[in-house]
Amino acid sequence: MTSPIHSISVSTISQILLLLTLLLSVKSLANSPEKKTPAFFIFGDSTVDAGNNNYIDTIAGNRANFPPYGQNSFFDKPTGRFSDGRIIVDFIAEYAEVPIIPPFKEPSAKFINGANFASGGAGVLPETYQGIVIDFPTQLEQFNTVVSSLTAELGDTEASELIANAVYFISIGSNDYFSYLGSPKMQEVFTPEEIVGMVIGNLSKAIQGLYVKGARKFGFVSLCPLGCLPALRAANPKADGSCFEDVSALALAHNSALYGVLLSFEHIFKDFKYAFSSDLYSWLNEVIHNPAKFGFKDGINACCGSGPYGGVYSCGGNKEVSDFEVCNSSEDFVWWDSFHATEKLARKIADVLWDSPPSSVGPYNLKGLFFNHEKSRVEDIVDAKENLEAFAM
Ligand SMILES: *[C@@H]1O[C@H](CO)[C@@H](O)[C@H](O)[C@H]1NC(C)=O
Ligand SMILES: *[C@@H]1O[C@H](CO)[C@@H](O)[C@H](O)[C@H]1NC(C)=O
Repeated sequence: MTSPIHSISVSTISQILLLLTLLLSVKSLANSPEKKTPAFFIFGDSTVDAGNNNYIDTIAGNRANFPPYGQNSFFDKPTGRFSDGRIIVDFIAEYAEVPIIPPFKEPSAKFINGANFASGGAGVLPETYQGIVIDFPTQLEQFNTVVSSLTAELGDTEASELIANAVYFISIGSNDYFSYLGSPKMQEVFTPEEIVGMVIGNLSKAIQGLYVKGARKFGFVSLCPLGCLPALRAANPKADGSCFEDVSALALAHNSALYGVLLSFEHIFKDFKYAFSSDLYSWLNEVIHNPAKFGFKDGINACCGSGPYGGVYSCGGNKEVSDFEVCNSSEDFVWWDSFHATEKLARKIADVLWDSPPSSVGPYNLKGLFFNHEKSRVEDIVDAKENLEAFAM
């Protein structure tokens, strides 16, 4: 027979267990905001534009919301991405376990996981393709708008946390140099060194501006060997099929100067964290020159375009030149059109930035920034400094 006392204690125990379970679940609820994946804010040019230019007055060459853009059907229609499918930031969002980040201009988009402000054709300098792009200063103002609406929605404390935890991803600069090289007048007034100085000066100011607003974690895409883009290969005055080295030299100078700025910011600004790949340029150079090593068949020609190397920017027609060809298998190509990567290359770049070791991407990689990993060891930073010195030579 069960004694009354025994049965009371059993039911008390089960009540205590129930209470404990409730307490534990309340505790894990209270913890969950810290576990939330950081928001992802994106600034830049066509390398990361997810469709903002669909909503502005611009020229056809600054849009990509018509076939064959998006032809691999990852998205159900051309979205405005300058690719056969996804772009770098789509893969990063996937790895970070956030939904695809919507363009700021998209009507009724929600920015609780971040926003994409990038605009095809934009440069760091507001003069770059002025009037037909969302320039960088405007992108930064649009970020302020998003901050205000998040603050209204979440309250000061939660919004500040979101901003401090978010990753700020910047991919910009190529268009400043294209615009400079396309303008004999600019070249008369400014030396290449001066242009790089102005671009880096303005980019540094923008990074500081974001820091002042509470941003702490920054990711950068360094410039690729610009002279090897099909359009620039075709424009090389040497006309021997080689990359246009003067253009690539600007990209190298830009990358090296940006790296120097980031190294100094890390010392000046408390809790300033960044991911920068000091060897993305040379890695891409290797992809372009040895495509087979990376699963490509062609590192020279654009899949979509016309003229030598597909370097005439006519993909999709509807531009100054309406004739164009599309390759049969964009999987084989490094370049989708005269200026832009295929989805396959975009994924490889995202992979490099996401979890490469500190000797290649540092002091944090993007995975470390998103998931708050500790900074790499002192030895790795010494390595990074050595890389910078190698760059400077
Ligand atoms: C920023 O760019 C402008 C040209 O738009 C230039 O006059 C100015 O010197 C640059 N600022 C910095 C800090 O380099
Ligand atoms: C695509 O494939 C077809 C048939 O295999 C071939 O005739 C055509 O030349 C190819 N087009 C291109 C642009 O490679």
